Order: sequence, then structure tokens, then C-alpha cells
Amino acid sequence: MRRDVLSIMDFSKEELIALFEETKRIKKELEERTTLNYLRGYVMATAFFEPSTRTKLSFQTAMLRMGGEFIDLPPEEASSRAKGENFADTIKMLESYADVIVIRHKLEGAARFAAEIAEVPVINGGDGTRDHPTQAMIDLFTIFETLGRVEGLTIGVIGDLKYGRAARSFVLGISKFKPKKLYLVSPPQLSLHDDVKEIIIENGVRFEELTDLKQVIADIDVLYVTRIQRERFPDPLEYERVKGSYRVGLDILSGAKSELVILHPLPRVDELDLSLDKTPYAKYFVQAKNGVPVRMALLKTILKG
Ligand code: NCD
Repeated sequence: MRRDVLSIMDFSKEELIALFEETKRIKKELEERTTLNYLRGYVMATAFFEPSTRTKLSFQTAMLRMGGEFIDLPPEEASSRAKGENFADTIKMLESYADVIVIRHKLEGAARFAAEIAEVPVINGGDGTRDHPTQAMIDLFTIFETLGRVEGLTIGVIGDLKYGRAARSFVLGISKFKPKKLYLVSPPQLSLHDDVKEIIIENGVRFEELTDLKQVIADIDVLYVTRIQRERFPDPLEYERVKGSYRVGLDILSGAKSELVILHPLPRVDELDLSLDKTPYAKYFVQAKNGVPVRMALLKTILKG
């Protein structure tokens, strides 16, 4: 049966755990340098209407490492979009060439719309401020792999919880695993939308909103840091008011647990100090690297069942 990946909400906890187990198996095979041919003969189309480094390249690497291939929609000026071709026609072309489409777009709902047009599965690689399901899968897998469990942890999420689709998707994803407590740390103007808070409450998760990480750092098992999403601000003055308003550095971590795990979906700007990279807390490059095996497992599940 065809399966789209539009939101982390479309996946149950059990399905996510099955994906993590598959990812572990694939990682082991990759470490043994086994040639994987699970997706030989399959073609994936990447259609990125917004900038990307990790998501696009790790999806393409995932396909190549599974024996499959990919095609990539060229940037606007080099494709027929420059001639005025509409979004729906572009998607129709991609579905006639490829077995799966990965799409990123600045508009919320773009991936869902593409899924209505295309017969082949559509994977959301980020739509505006809304969803980034595969990033959340990578985040949760990295916790699973590092700590051996995802359930029952005390989680801190710091940053732009209003415009950040990675933060939003992570909060929705982790809420399925009954965190002991969720600390939502942000400037008041960048707090989490009510619709997400309602879902957290429905899941029975205890959460607290605050502006100062230092107050709660000693309690936290996993700290998820995100950048301020400058490009999403409708008013540049609104951005000027909050820019540089938080920064995670060694000073803030003085009372932290020794096994604290720091994650960041990347790219970082100035919110996560470079001096943390060498500490045992830093798991964000491991997290980025996990993008490939998690997406391999996902593509295999979607295309092969
Ligand atoms: C995130 C995104 O695009 O939403 N990046 C990513 O996919 N790793 C986070 C961000 O841009 O801040």
C-alpha cells in the first residue's frame, strides 16, 4: 500500500520503533561495507524549492547506498518553472519519472498538495514552518541509539519554537514517548503554537514554558537546540528584537548531567557555541550522519514494505 510521509503525526510509536530497529540493521550492514541493493532499479526525485544541505544530500546518499538512483529538480532559473510552469504540472512530471518524490517547499501544506497530485509516495522534506517528519525520525533515532531508550526522558527544547518546523516536529515526535517532563525554552515571542500544545496535553505530557535554560538545565537528559528562523519572520524588526537572545555555551551547562545529550538539526548560526563540539554532550554531528541510515530505512520501508 502506498505510504506518504507528510507529518511525524502520521507515524505511531510502534512504527517509529520498527524504523529505528531497521536503521540499526542498516547501520551495521554499512559498517561491514556490505553492498546494499534493496532499492536497485528504483528512482527517487528530489524537488527542493528551498535551500538545503543535509536533507537533500542525505536522501540522495541514502538512495545511492541502497543501489537506487535519483533525479534532482534543477533550481528555478534552470527549470521550466522559469517559463511559468505551475507546481502541479511539475509534480506530475516528477511522478511520471520517479518511484518516490522528496519535496521541500516554503509553503505549509505543499507536500500534502503534492501527495494529492502524485500517484507515487511523497516524502515531506520540510514545508514552511510546519512539518519536517524525517528530521524528527533522525532526532528520535539518535536518542534511541545514544541512550538506549526514548521513553520517559526529561527533554529541553530551546529556540525558535514558533517558526521552526524541526523543533515543532521533534516536540510532536517525542511526545509519543511519554517524556517525564518537557521544557520549552524560548523568547516569549517565539513560543510554541497552541495547536502543538494541545496535542502535547492530549498525550498527557507535563510541560513548562520558560525563557531561561539555566533554571532547569540540571534536570535535562536531552537538550534540543534550534536557530532562530530569520527567513520566516514577516517583519525584519521582529527578528532584530529577538536575534542573539539565547546562546548555549559551556557556562550554561555548568550544572548539567554528565550524560546530557545535545542535539541540533543544523544549520547553527550563533545559538550553539563551537566550544561545545569537543564535549561528550555534542551529538549533533552524529545526528546529522544518522540522516543517511534513517532515510535508507525509511525509503526501504516505503518502497518495499
Ligand atoms: C532544518 C530545516 O530545514 O527545517 N534543517 C534541517 O533540515 N536539518 C532546521 C533549520 O533550518 O533550522
